Amino acid sequence: MHDSSRRVYDSVLDLLSDVDNPTPLVRLSRLVPFEHTEVYAKLEWYNPFGAVKDRVASNMVRDAEESGRIGSAQKLVEPTSGNTGLALAMVSNAKGYSLTTPLSNQIPVEKRTILRLAGVDVIELEDTLCPAPGAPEGAIARADEIGNQPEFEMLNQYANGANPDAHYRTTGPEVWHQTAGLVTHFVAGLGTCGTINGSGSFLKEQEPDVQIIGVHPPAGHDIPGVRSLTQLSQTEFFTPDKYDGLVEVENKLAFEMCQRINQEESLIAGPSSGMALAGALASVPDEPGNVVVVIFPDSIFKYASSVLSNVAGLGTAPASGTKREQLLDSMIENARINSNLTVDVDAAHDFWQQHRPLVIDVREPDAHRQRHIPGAINMPLNDLAELAPFLPENRDAPLLSVCERGNLSLSGVLFLNSLGYQNVRSITGGTEAWDEQGFAVTST
Ligand SMILES: Cc1ncc(COP(=O)(O)O)c(C=O)c1O
Repeated sequence: MHDSSRRVYDSVLDLLSDVDNPTPLVRLSRLVPFEHTEVYAKLEWYNPFGAVKDRVASNMVRDAEESGRIGSAQKLVEPTSGNTGLALAMVSNAKGYSLTTPLSNQIPVEKRTILRLAGVDVIELEDTLCPAPGAPEGAIARADEIGNQPEFEMLNQYANGANPDAHYRTTGPEVWHQTAGLVTHFVAGLGTCGTINGSGSFLKEQEPDVQIIGVHPPAGHDIPGVRSLTQLSQTEFFTPDKYDGLVEVENKLAFEMCQRINQEESLIAGPSSGMALAGALASVPDEPGNVVVVIFPDSIFKYASSVLSNVAGLGTAPASGTKREQLLDSMIENARINSNLTVDVDAAHDFWQQHRPLVIDVREPDAHRQRHIPGAINMPLNDLAELAPFLPENRDAPLLSVCERGNLSLSGVLFLNSLGYQNVRSITGGTEAWDEQGFAVTST
C-alpha cells in the first residue's frame, strides 16, 4: 500500500521530513512590513511528532544504530526541554527502545505530561528552563550520570554531530529545493544550534552569499527551546563567527509576535517562532530579490502556561493540569510576586544570625546531605504532612523554608501557612544563593 504520492505509509517513521517530503513553506503576507523582501515560514510542526526536533531524534538514532552504539531493547537517556524527548520517545516506541528524560521542573506542565503519556520515565529536577551543561545538579549532569551506566546510551543532542547533520541532510536541502535556490536569508532561533549549523553549512555550500542569522532571547527569558547568550556560551555547537548575524529579541516582543502570527497569519506557531520572526524582521533589509526563510520550530499548543504568563488579557487561570496542580501553580506564581512569602538571601542571613530561626530544608535527603545551612532540619516537601508533629507548637515561631534554588521552598511556605504558621519565608535563590554569597554551609 505504501505510496507517498497518495500519502499512504507503512510506518509513521516514513513521514519524517526530507527533500522529497518537506515541511511546508508558507509566505507571510500580512505582518511583514516589506515591499520587496519575501518572508517564508517553514512550519516544523508538520513533522510527524510535532516539532523540528523530530529530524534530530531520528537522525541521532539512525546514526547510533548504524555505528552499533545501540541495539535491540536499548535504554536511552536524554536531557531535554521537551521536543527532543517527545520525538525520541516516539522513535523509541516505534523501534522497541525505552527512554528516560531528566528535565527541569520549569518546563511547561503540558510537555512533562505528554512525555509521561508517551511512556517516558520523566525525572523532574530543579533546574533552569533550558538545562545548562555546567550545572552540577541539573538535567544534563543527571543524564550523564545515568548514561554512564552500561545498559544506557545518552545520545546527547548538545554534542552529537548527528544533531546538526540532521539539518544538513534534510532542513538545508529542503529550503534550497523549495525556494529553487533563491533563498537569500536563513533565520533560526538558537537552542543547541543544530538547526543553524547544519542548515547553514548546507546552504553556504550551495551559495556562499546566503546570510545565516541566529536569533536568541536575553538572559532571564522564558521562551522554551532557545537560549540566551550566556546559556549559548555553554553550548558546544554555538559558533557565532560562522553566522552572518546574531539578533537578540526581548521576551515580550517574541510573545507579541507569536500572538500576531496566530491572529494575522492564521499560523499556529509557538513562542520561539515569534522570536525568530521578530529577529528576521529586525535584521533583514527590504530589497528586491531578498527571500527569507524563517524556521518556525513548533506549534502553540504546548505553551498555554507560558502564553498566560506573558500575554496580557487572556485570563489568569492556568490552562492545564489537574485542579490541584492548577491551584498549586497559581499559588506558587502568587508566592513568587508576593514579598510576604519570600526573603532575599542577604536578609535571610542577617535574620538567621540574629535570631537563629528554625530552617526547614524541603529538598530530598541526598541533596540536603551534600550541602545545607548549618542547623537546617530536613523535611522533604513530600513528607511535610507526615513530619508536621515535629514542627514547633508555637504557630508564631519564625521559620525559614529553603531548597536548592528557591522554587520548592515556596511550596513549603504555602504548606506551612496552611498548618497555621504565619511567620514563614522562603529564601530566594535557595541554598545555592546562600553558598554563592559565601555564607556558611555544611554537609553530613
Ligand atoms: C522549541 C524549539 N526547540 C529548539 C529550537 C532550537 O533549535 P536548535 O536546538 O537546533 O538550535 C528552537 C529554536 O527556536 C525551538 O523553538
